[in-house]
Amino acid sequence: MFVSDCLQINEKGHLTVGGCDTVELAETFGTPAYVMDETTIRENCRAYKRSFEQYYGGNGLALFASKALNCLEICRIVKEEGLGLDVVSGGELYTALKAGFPAEKIHFHGNNKTRDEIKMALESKVGRIVLDNLYELTAVDELAASMGIKASVSMRIKPGIDAHTHSFIRTGQIDSKFGFALETGEAMEAVKQVIACRNIELEELHCHIGSQIFDMDPFVHAAEVMMDFIGDIRKQTGVTVECLNLGGGFGIQYTQDDNPQSYDRYMEKVSKAVKAKAEQLELPVPFIYLEPGRSVVGEAGITLYTVGGIKEIPNVRTYVSIDGGMTDNPRYALYKSGYTCVVANKAGLPAAKEVTVAGKCCESGDLIQENTKIQSPEIGDILAVLSTGAYNYSMASNYNRIPKPPIVLVKEGKAREIVRRQTYEDLIRNDI
Ligand code: LLP
Repeated sequence: MFVSDCLQINEKGHLTVGGCDTVELAETFGTPAYVMDETTIRENCRAYKRSFEQYYGGNGLALFASKALNCLEICRIVKEEGLGLDVVSGGELYTALKAGFPAEKIHFHGNNKTRDEIKMALESKVGRIVLDNLYELTAVDELAASMGIKASVSMRIKPGIDAHTHSFIRTGQIDSKFGFALETGEAMEAVKQVIACRNIELEELHCHIGSQIFDMDPFVHAAEVMMDFIGDIRKQTGVTVECLNLGGGFGIQYTQDDNPQSYDRYMEKVSKAVKAKAEQLELPVPFIYLEPGRSVVGEAGITLYTVGGIKEIPNVRTYVSIDGGMTDNPRYALYKSGYTCVVANKAGLPAAKEVTVAGKCCESGDLIQENTKIQSPEIGDILAVLSTGAYNYSMASNYNRIPKPPIVLVKEGKAREIVRRQTYEDLIRNDI
């Protein structure tokens, strides 16, 4: 019935997550609140590790894309599970380092890294800086020279692949702000410039074709295109790039309409394609990195709200207003993303009432879901929105000076806060 295995209904007819009654969680921690199931996160990390072992002789590493959810405790969990980390800003890097994440397992991304961020990445000795453009190349080369070190870099390549997903989260095609284009020869020219830099070692190529993708073919195709490029680089320069980073993008289940495939199937297909290309091009089988974000934390999270007003507009629709909205989950406002909503204290009853779930911001577009079926709602009910573990907390804002909700981590019936709810005092902390 539900989109995630960590969700059940208990004898009171309440929704549970990670063995905790969501109605009790709402009482204890207040609403709105993000709730994350630790077991699911750990299990997802392990699934990536297992599939690398099963299909690729363990010759790879999953880097958790921390833009999906970054806070100290999540970094600690990912570290304990042995994954690496993808960060895209000084702030994400700072959090990871504060959590004790090993710098050598961090890859630093971003399409417009500032000089300060590059300096911070080099000084903290991150494992790799992923170059997006030639301006960064100059900055990395100069800074590495001034520090007397050699920077280990990757290069973000646009493989020219159009993944079937929302245009805002599609990134592999030529019209994208990310990376160097293959088709135009820009990527090869840039590779030659990188190789010529004395303070830089080109150790990896990277691509990421988009996010929330279900179709396997674009992933396999991207892997093949990247292997061909590694072959071309060797032909033209004599340099063999030994690591290939295939990015993230695996889709998850938000509603019953979503049908994600297992990572195993992905790994099986992609490893086969990469090994076949390596043989055909007489290249060494590369070390592979993946960068899953959404698929590690998405289904592990739900958000709990309290229902405030209910507005029935005859022959139009029924608005159910909650005590959060686009400030804690901007994804419907941005992408019209599908979500499953459940009245947590009536989870055992049929979802028979069609409603529009609205947030509390002064903005008509502040909706969580339109025309969705939930259990007949009443004021004071607890509304759970499922699969909110990725790109919710990390994209939250303080619009309308609404404090950000806490993150509650649950595991086998126990719950603890890992991020505190913002207070009004927090909101004015930097005001002068
Ligand atoms: N690697 C790179 C270079 C990326 O840009 C991304 C996501 C990932 C990995 C992780 O992709 P994932 O496995 O999570 O699909 N805010 C949007 C998603 C933006 C994704 C940005 N890049 C959303 O809420 O759907």
